[in-house]
Amino acid sequence: MPPTTPPQDRLRLAIQKSGRLSTDSLGLLARCGIKVKAPKEKLLLHSENFPIDILFVRDDDIPQLVMDGVCDLGIVGTNVLEESALERRSAGNGHAYTVERELDFGGCRLALALPEERAYNGPQDLQGLRIATTYPQLTRRYFAAQGLQADIVYLSGSVEVAPRLGLADAICDLVATGSTLEANRLRAVETIFKSTAVLIRGDRPLNPVKTHALEILLRRTDGVQLAAEAKYIMLHAPKAALAEIKKLLPGSENPTLLPLAGDDSKVALHAVCQEAVFWETMESLKKAGASSILVLPIEKMML
Ligand code: PRP
Ligand code: ZN
Repeated sequence: MPPTTPPQDRLRLAIQKSGRLSTDSLGLLARCGIKVKAPKEKLLLHSENFPIDILFVRDDDIPQLVMDGVCDLGIVGTNVLEESALERRSAGNGHAYTVERELDFGGCRLALALPEERAYNGPQDLQGLRIATTYPQLTRRYFAAQGLQADIVYLSGSVEVAPRLGLADAICDLVATGSTLEANRLRAVETIFKSTAVLIRGDRPLNPVKTHALEILLRRTDGVQLAAEAKYIMLHAPKAALAEIKKLLPGSENPTLLPLAGDDSKVALHAVCQEAVFWETMESLKKAGASSILVLPIEKMML
């Protein structure tokens, strides 16, 4: 089905084409009930059931695309945002976007990594090294703060192979699971920045139709992120133990109490817990007199 909303009324969102954030960015849209069907090889995808188009690009290009108004929104790591902010600051420019939401994925760190066999006793061992990185500004800031010198070699990708090729002594790159470093026999020695994915929005005003679509998108994003941790809990509680049991429920307000057929001494308690419910909590509930304890996942939430 072709998109029915005219292009000027469709939001345009830039996401990473391939890399750590691609799958989770599409996953967030899916959790928001936004369908994008066509294959990912395309540069631009239209959602078939929401007025949004998705542009697939390199993550490093996302801040600029959003600031230039080519895209209304972007999903990008704070590492990329901070790098581009430092770059613009050094050129005397500010930024023209707002961070709308912190997202619950894309957690990683920017780390300095050395070949495994190289000894490391502290930052002083980095003095004078040639460092390959896609993040020259953040790397430079770290070295300046340490009072150390470095020779920075900018690479736009495949930074992890630089030491093996003799292009650099060390690298400064993102580490998520650590498998890229391991596969290249490198080891992280210093974390210089912690990153997470965020949803940004350009500062240019949106027309009323797009503004409305953005409101819905943000509300749904909040809903799926809230629901990710939250659980629905159901249990049977002796009336006498209710006060204690309520205190044990993590982050829940005003549980529902229902009579239990055939048992006047107990009630059924239903509650939404905003925080994770661990086995320990369930064991404490049991100890306090609760029985038939069920913990159910929540798919969506609107407060
Ligand atoms: C980063 C980084 C590594 C990888 C690390 O790439 O450059 O290649 O993630 O992840 P790991 O520790 O789980 O192996 P990114 O997604 O930013 O792609 P890009 O470097 O191509 O922009
Ligand atoms: Zn990147």
